[in-house]
Amino acid sequence: MKIFIDTAELEEIKQAVSWGIVDGVTTNPSLIKKAVDRRKGKISMEDYIKEIVKVSPGPVSLEVIGRRADEMIKQGMLLHEKFSPFGEVAIKIPINPSVNGDENLDFDGLKAIRHLSSEGISVNTTLVMTPEQALLAAKAGATYVSPFAGRIDDYIRANMGMKIGKDFQKGDYLDHELLRSARNKVLSDAMASATSIREIYKSSLVHSAADRSHDNGIYSGVDLVTRILRIFRAYNFKTEVIAASIRNSRQVREMAELGVHIATVPFNVLKDMIKHYKTSEGMRRFMDDVVPQYRELFMEK
Ligand code: G3P
Repeated sequence: MKIFIDTAELEEIKQAVSWGIVDGVTTNPSLIKKAVDRRKGKISMEDYIKEIVKVSPGPVSLEVIGRRADEMIKQGMLLHEKFSPFGEVAIKIPINPSVNGDENLDFDGLKAIRHLSSEGISVNTTLVMTPEQALLAAKAGATYVSPFAGRIDDYIRANMGMKIGKDFQKGDYLDHELLRSARNKVLSDAMASATSIREIYKSSLVHSAADRSHDNGIYSGVDLVTRILRIFRAYNFKTEVIAASIRNSRQVREMAELGVHIATVPFNVLKDMIKHYKTSEGMRRFMDDVVPQYRELFMEK
């Protein structure tokens, strides 16, 4: 699995690159704004992005801001032209740039993906929330699709009436296996008292209890990625899946178990991945047991 770092903070990128585990970088306009603001006018945004592209060992995803296909194509080409002389660049295009659903822009993302890809420009399809969207992006020729795992977890928890900050924190792991078993329990209890299959199928009680724990058959961000990979493997799509909107190290582990091509991981999650209580305890014990004779082994004669 390749690891991208999901940040625009140059120091974080440099540190993670020095650990030898970074294969690329993903950014968005909010991350870049935050990083450049912190430099209080000492560097222009354009130069700052050049620095990121220079230090990254692999593709840096940069996002367009237009929403019409022609705008996104123009901006994508411009970003590519400006920054690809300094390193590898991928252009982030939203799968559906429509903001309130009533615009005629639903398919402009696909048009931009098709066009930029046919020009040989790598496209990272962003804001992917369903396997269907991922399938369409792959058909349009995207180099990458980025399913937003953490945001799907947020959405499922919100559907169940859970509030961020109160019932769960942003970095909390969503136990999708527990959710699935709880749903099965609700269904089997209903089955035990039902007299016909029709009765269960039509029961609004069963549906409201069981259906709020998933998003149209998707039980979590990990489940979303599982299903996208299943589709891509069934048809040998070349498009690579970037597990995005990662919130904790257990999600990274589960994505790796699935064989996802890439996970884009925030700096704080990368730092968590190296930690374990028993590792530190083991280190403390070893250090306590170093006797002078052992220390002498390392002394230069
Ligand atoms: O990788 C996408 C990321 O930048 C969004 O993450 O945590 O805001 O959902 P998040």
